[in-house]
Amino acid sequence: MGTPFKNKKIIVAGGSSGIGLAAAGQFKDQQAQVTITGRNPDKLKNAAQAGLQTAVIDSSNREALDSFFKSHGPVDHLVISLSGSKGIGNFAGLSLQVLREGFEEKYWPILNTVQSALPFINKGGSITLVTAISATAQLPGTSGLAALNGALEIMVPVWAKELTQIRINAVSPGVVDTSWWDFLPEQEKHETFKQYAAQIPAGRVGKPEEIANAILFLAGNEYMTGKVIGCDGGMS
Ligand SMILES: NC(=O)c1ccc[n+]([C@@H]2O[C@H](COP(=O)([O-])OP(=O)(O)OC[C@H]3O[C@@H](n4cnc5c(N)ncnc54)[C@H](OP(=O)(O)O)[C@@H]3O)[C@@H](O)[C@H]2O)c1
Repeated sequence: MGTPFKNKKIIVAGGSSGIGLAAAGQFKDQQAQVTITGRNPDKLKNAAQAGLQTAVIDSSNREALDSFFKSHGPVDHLVISLSGSKGIGNFAGLSLQVLREGFEEKYWPILNTVQSALPFINKGGSITLVTAISATAQLPGTSGLAALNGALEIMVPVWAKELTQIRINAVSPGVVDTSWWDFLPEQEKHETFKQYAAQIPAGRVGKPEEIANAILFLAGNEYMTGKVIGCDGGMS
């Protein structure tokens, strides 16, 4: 196997835990120069011990993003794995204010990160977003998350046609065992994963490393652009 990422400059926005951290580790294993971002300096400190470069950036702050990319560019590959969890529940009882907050947490920070990074991505480089299978899975209680993630996924192929010098794709994960689920007490999380596992053809929830594999595939394959690929154990 070749090493397409050797000495390449990679930024993983939202790389201090979960899927982003797993992707950052896999890029580093391929001898890339990896910088991860996140809001919490303690989480980043832990990652720095594993040899990753870190930067405290809140992706909802456009000025901070602009000065970060100005000082860190040029970049070869950007991965955006920013979390957002608000907006779950059957629509009849869904607080639209909470759904709005869900968009503030994930949709706008991702758009800001893409737009801010664009002038600094090298020709032949790539952007990979992490969305969510709720965009297409048609599960009750997820219409808010479907709207949020679907709004991102529908932009990807259009961006790909606008951006002919670089590629842009998204990975759409199913249920993955990360700190995203830490809002549930441990026992409840265990039960929830068990219930999902019974409905997933693969028979279990996903591991962050498996989603990271899909991210590296999209970033490394020069013939992939404008695509959203599901990585969900067959859930959708
Ligand atoms: N886990 C799942 O079951 C699942 C399923 C489908 C889709 N996804 C999607 O996968 C993506 C990654 O989630 P995950 O499961 O890996 O969650 P995670 O472990 O909570 O990781 C989220 C990362 O994003 C960072 N982050 C969040 N908001 C940020 C902001 N405004 N600016 C900078 N960094 C920010 C977090 O660090 P700080 O908090 O320190 O900022 C952390 O590094 C999310 O978009 C999520 O919606 C997850």
